[in-house]
Amino acid sequence: MRSALPAVIAVAILVSPLSAQSPSAVSSADATAGRAIFESKGRCAACHALDNSNGTLGPNLGWIGLLRTPASLRQSLTTPDAEIHPRFLTIAVETASGDTFEGLLLNEDDLSIQIRDVSHQNKSFLKSRLKALRREKRSLMPSYAATLSTREIEQVVAYLRTLRTLWSTQAGERTREIGGVSENVAFFDRPERAEVERTDDLIRALDIPEGARIADIGAGTGYFTWRLAQRAGPSGKVTAVDIQQKMLDLTAAAVASHKLSNVEYTLGVEDNPRLPEHTFDMVFIAHSFHEFADPDPIMSRVRRSLKPAGRLVVVEYAKENPEAPASSLHKMSFDEMRGEIERFGFELDRILDFLPVQHALIFTVLQ
Ligand code: HEC
Repeated sequence: MRSALPAVIAVAILVSPLSAQSPSAVSSADATAGRAIFESKGRCAACHALDNSNGTLGPNLGWIGLLRTPASLRQSLTTPDAEIHPRFLTIAVETASGDTFEGLLLNEDDLSIQIRDVSHQNKSFLKSRLKALRREKRSLMPSYAATLSTREIEQVVAYLRTLRTLWSTQAGERTREIGGVSENVAFFDRPERAEVERTDDLIRALDIPEGARIADIGAGTGYFTWRLAQRAGPSGKVTAVDIQQKMLDLTAAAVASHKLSNVEYTLGVEDNPRLPEHTFDMVFIAHSFHEFADPDPIMSRVRRSLKPAGRLVVVEYAKENPEAPASSLHKMSFDEMRGEIERFGFELDRILDFLPVQHALIFTVLQ
């Protein structure tokens, strides 16, 4: 699991005009040039694999285009130390005789530790013979800020955005590291929910511009509604939809308690969320998609309600994850979500892979 998004990334994401674009907006000439840099000048392939295997020193990048925004890819290239997956911390050892080595952790037990150093050699050390053993929060990846020009960095980013081959086993892998959560129903209202589920990071990663028009379908208690409304700001607006008036009342109370007034309420019916057409920059559906008895009429209306560059965000508890706080009837696997939703004329654009117990998938409208 990646550590909390540092504030700098959040800012970078918000100001990046490219980040909301779908990969089709990436110029193919840039991507081709980027590929050449990846393979030769950048020597990226020496550490990263793109096929269904592990890279030798860095993570597999075969589907990185689905996981990162252009802003966070740019950051990986220029300041790799800014955000590091714990599995990729640098291990630094100093032997009793004063030799120093550093590399990626391969294996460790009480007595010994094995690392792969930057020249791709595997080394094993007896801990009792080491003078020092440190896990350092810096990356083995070199910064390319000085070796690649800004233009070349953009080309590499364009290429990385095209890497979208996804093996479903990997989708499962990404969601498996979880902190313990209880099965208790009161869980849904507990104050720590936002922290445990990293709700604020989720909302931030959606990259919602001021003034956005958003529909929140299945608003429930308004848990997400007021957060979306806060992001959209006074010049934006959220339409909260639910098929129970009681839920809309709860949502209105949550919105009012956060001193927001940019939310309107629509009572939908089973097969019709009653959305205006060509209106929304984002339709947000959290923990509700799985409840649609007949998703066809709803999703075709959702599709029509979006502007051409609009995005659909669907959040569900991950079925692959036994710790996700819902019975399996109320969870969905990554494959189920992608398969069902793409069928309605959407295309997967991004996966928010850092969420501990949920899948959050962002789709664009297939033109
Ligand atoms: C010496 C090995 C090495 C080389 C060369 C290298 N990387 Fe990395 N890369 C790593 C390691 C280790 C990590 C994981 C730690 C981190 O996030 O910095 C990483 C992380 C990344 C990430 C973030 C992955 C994620 O899951 O968020 C991207 C993107 C990336 N590298 C792209 C590149 C590109 C593009 C190049 C060539 C221009 C390159 N790397 C060259 C080792 C390397």
